[in-house]
Amino acid sequence: MFKCVISLVILVMSKQNFAKNLIHYKCRGGIYPRSTVERFFVPDDKVCWKTQYDDYKPNCFNAPSLQGKPWADPDIDSPNFKPKWNMVDGKVNRSSHIGTYNIVNQLPQNPIGRTGICGRGVLGRWGPNHAADPVVTRWKRLDGKMVLDPNKKPILQFVAIKRGDSGEWALPGGMVDPGELDTVTAVREFREEALNSLAKTEEETAQWTEKLNTFFSTGEVVYKGYVDDWRNTDNAWLETVAYNFHDETGTIVGSMNLQAGDDAVGVCWVDITPTIKLYASHEEIVQTVNKKQIRIFESEH
Ligand code: BGC
Repeated sequence: MFKCVISLVILVMSKQNFAKNLIHYKCRGGIYPRSTVERFFVPDDKVCWKTQYDDYKPNCFNAPSLQGKPWADPDIDSPNFKPKWNMVDGKVNRSSHIGTYNIVNQLPQNPIGRTGICGRGVLGRWGPNHAADPVVTRWKRLDGKMVLDPNKKPILQFVAIKRGDSGEWALPGGMVDPGELDTVTAVREFREEALNSLAKTEEETAQWTEKLNTFFSTGEVVYKGYVDDWRNTDNAWLETVAYNFHDETGTIVGSMNLQAGDDAVGVCWVDITPTIKLYASHEEIVQTVNKKQIRIFESEH
């Protein structure tokens, strides 16, 4: 009986989490980015494809700027384009972190539901577009001493960048290149966006390489799945794997000079507070890391 109640509680809890992740908000409503195309209205109860929505007639948008880009798929009706959905297709990973997605009228269907726009929008790939995000953390310190909040808990900080496209604060992540491991992407993007490695000489980067390589070998996956990104459409969407790299003593990345680079226009250490607002699903990811690090800290002190 006891066992039964426990499994019921676990079932209800996991259903709640699942239900929470089953809907997207930031990719619904308003004008689609870098276009004049308005998204078709999708109320919360019509997001799920299984719910009938006969009036649903979204506009399609395929950014002309994607034409001929080496990192982008061809048009869906291009004669030479024969994608292998739901699997690794050559070097392009077309499988989803959240399961098998449907192909409807020869187009991959957003696994979370309607977004109010069809086509692939500004995204390079039809179906899943894979990103990776580093969550680099340290404890907040003042004159070498840890700063505590009013509840006497330490304050976790993470490296945030200001995105050049939307102006929002975000994790310094980026898109996984074909054939690239997502850990490699996460670290590469951190170096490019938060340490401006692309503008540094070989000599300058050599100084930190060894220190950073050791630090970045300690990452832990904290999220793997769909991202509620404003660029998502009915036929193309973002997924990410987020890794936490924690600098417990604040002497490795915690003591380095941050400098925005590549497509980031700002970078800084940000306190993780309950009200923090970030790009796409990044605040959920950062809150998960905060809970994890506070739990570890409390178990050790
Ligand atoms: C960003 C990642 C983000 C992903 C999904 C990419 O453009 O660089 O940080 O997780 O989009 O929103």
